[in-house]
Amino acid sequence: MAEQQPAEQAQTVTPWEVHGATVGGQQLGIDYDRLIAQFGTRPIDSALLERFAALTGRPPHRFLRRGVFFSHRDLASILDRYEQGKPFYLYTGRGPSSDSMHLGHMVPFVFCKWLQDVFDVPLVIQLTGIHALPPELTLEQCHSFAYENAKDIIACGFDVRKTFIFSDLDFVGGPFYHNVVRFARAITANQVKATFGFDNSSNVGKYHFVAVQAAPSFSNSFPHIFGEKKDIPCLIPCAIDQVYVALTCRLTIKDPYFRLTRDVAVKLKYPKPALIHAKFFPSLQGSQTKMSASVDTSAIFMNDTPKQIEKKINKYAFSGGRTTLEEQKEFGGNTEVDVAYQYLSFFMDDDEKLEEIGQGYRNGRIMTGELKKMCIEVLKEFVGDFQAKKKQLTKELVFEYMKPRALEWGKS
Ligand code: TYM
Ligand code: TRP
Repeated sequence: MAEQQPAEQAQTVTPWEVHGATVGGQQLGIDYDRLIAQFGTRPIDSALLERFAALTGRPPHRFLRRGVFFSHRDLASILDRYEQGKPFYLYTGRGPSSDSMHLGHMVPFVFCKWLQDVFDVPLVIQLTGIHALPPELTLEQCHSFAYENAKDIIACGFDVRKTFIFSDLDFVGGPFYHNVVRFARAITANQVKATFGFDNSSNVGKYHFVAVQAAPSFSNSFPHIFGEKKDIPCLIPCAIDQVYVALTCRLTIKDPYFRLTRDVAVKLKYPKPALIHAKFFPSLQGSQTKMSASVDTSAIFMNDTPKQIEKKINKYAFSGGRTTLEEQKEFGGNTEVDVAYQYLSFFMDDDEKLEEIGQGYRNGRIMTGELKKMCIEVLKEFVGDFQAKKKQLTKELVFEYMKPRALEWGKS
């Protein structure tokens, strides 16, 4: 039986829980403008996109054109550095809670791969340890998922000469750990509690993890890449659920969390990381919730077969279409809530074609079944290409990405 929905509920976005508000018994989509106001971040506007295109000489990625990456912090200063030929790097990550990643996880990684190509910069990818993952997971499982997830990440096409992927369970020590310790001693349990809502029954690893996820934001955590340089800033692409952690080093006075981060940034005398935030790739059930690995029917996994993709879209993808053919022809469908259309807007690159499909659906020329079919084709192609790349990966190559070593960039 479906759980009883409360009539009124506030919107919640944390690393553990994502849902839109419920008003008068009706669940709404996530209000992203509100998140910008609440988190004190900046919207990505057309002026910023124009500057981006002019500087890099590349048209903005579809995720930028379509507002998937919609919010940022200090992106302009990263562009300034690019303009001046000064170095910066990219940092992103994954919490290995399942053996296969899903389509939603691809969003920051596909984008990172594009940024790496456009900017020609190094990228570090953190596979986190067990601290903040669900209690039923063992450390051994998490460790082996990290290796499996590394393969999924590599299959996004990262350049091995410019990419370092590491599991906290193997790499943490030396200068990286020094930064964990510096960070950890600069924050109190009270501050972490106020920020994340932990209580005294939360395991102490969760408290400590705040410092672990922050450490890769500082260039001297990676001496094999940056030597002892501690003044190279990073840009962190992630979805907006990570804002809690990724903002740990930001100077803001909006709420307790940002006050905490100001202390840390000032104390450690490091540059503040810049951030660029994505909206959530919706679950199959609709855009009130994000696609999540823990709910099988909410997600399309990167190891799903073409048959499974077809079945999941046909059976579970929430439709913005009308209930009968006649009504669909007369009134048209709603692309704003239609999951198949949303998925197309993330993965179909051709703007004109997408627009044509959207219009056709809205004015009743295209039926729900046809729209789903188009979505299935696009996803099958994306997942199929991904699986082909993954199949070619050797163990040696995966270890190469995960080996602490000098990276090469900026020479092309
Ligand atoms: P994790 O494994 O929960 O998610 C990995 C990345 O995918 C993003 N993501 C999504 N993006 C769009 N739509 C979705 N439905 C969706 N679900 C997840 C997440 O925002 C994340 O960027 N603690 C992190 C690992 C991490 C990290 C980082 C992430 C460590 N350092 C720095 C970003 C930046 C985690 O567990 O992510
Ligand atoms: N394990 C999740 C992650 O790795 C949860 C998380 C995000 C988290 N930010 C955090 C846990 C900050 C503790 C502190 O994303």
